[in-house]
Amino acid sequence: MLQNIFDTHSHYDDEAFDEDREELLTKVLPEGGVVRVVDCAVDLLTSVKVLDIAHEYDMVYAALGYHPEQAADERKGDLDVIAELLEKEEKAVAVGEIGLDYHWEDNAPRETQVDLFSRQLALSKDLGLPVIIHDRDAHGDTMECLQKYRPSGVLHCFSGSVEMMREATKLGIYIGLGGVVTFKNARKAVEVAAEVPLEYLVLETDAPYMAPTPFRGKRNNSTYIAYVAEKIAEVRGMEPQKLIDICNENGKRLFQMTD
Ligand code: NI
Repeated sequence: MLQNIFDTHSHYDDEAFDEDREELLTKVLPEGGVVRVVDCAVDLLTSVKVLDIAHEYDMVYAALGYHPEQAADERKGDLDVIAELLEKEEKAVAVGEIGLDYHWEDNAPRETQVDLFSRQLALSKDLGLPVIIHDRDAHGDTMECLQKYRPSGVLHCFSGSVEMMREATKLGIYIGLGGVVTFKNARKAVEVAAEVPLEYLVLETDAPYMAPTPFRGKRNNSTYIAYVAEKIAEVRGMEPQKLIDICNENGKRLFQMTD
């Protein structure tokens, strides 16, 4: 069985885990080879919830921030509270998840999203923390913001081309890959998986979403990263355990974890 799995992007605060969160985080994940998880907030309320979970479970770390799909809900002062939490809470390791989502028509206007994203990129620089970036159908503006602010961080569930991956890694940005690489129609993600410099690759679930084949459409959890690792290792012609070990070290470097 594969060991030493670091899930760099999850949402264990989601209500999909209300029934068995305790059992997952104390039993199922550790027994499935998972050693570390970053749980990502999407607004102020989830930031508090994610921190609670990180305090309760050793293996869980917190990313706090405002997701682009929540941009319209932002109230004055929310980011100040998030900034305070990021500054004082030791288990808060990143600003996330933040970014741009131009996929859904009913999301906030692009200018509103870019403004919120920019303020959080500036915040990450002030605090010296990495960012976890959500980029859906917004590659051009995302890269423009990264060029402008030069944060450290990761493009989660990377959906760009090999060319964009090269541009991002040149800026020092990590590439997060998950369940999508196992999907039948995943030509672009598989190309990126084959070409990404190994020192910039991290693994993730986005649980409860994005479960890999053969669990596609079901609730995801961090143990399923084994399937993602096997697929990427196969594409690269290497041992899955070796890949997981390297990605674990990459994740620790990305989130400035010393132990
Ligand atoms: Ni997510």
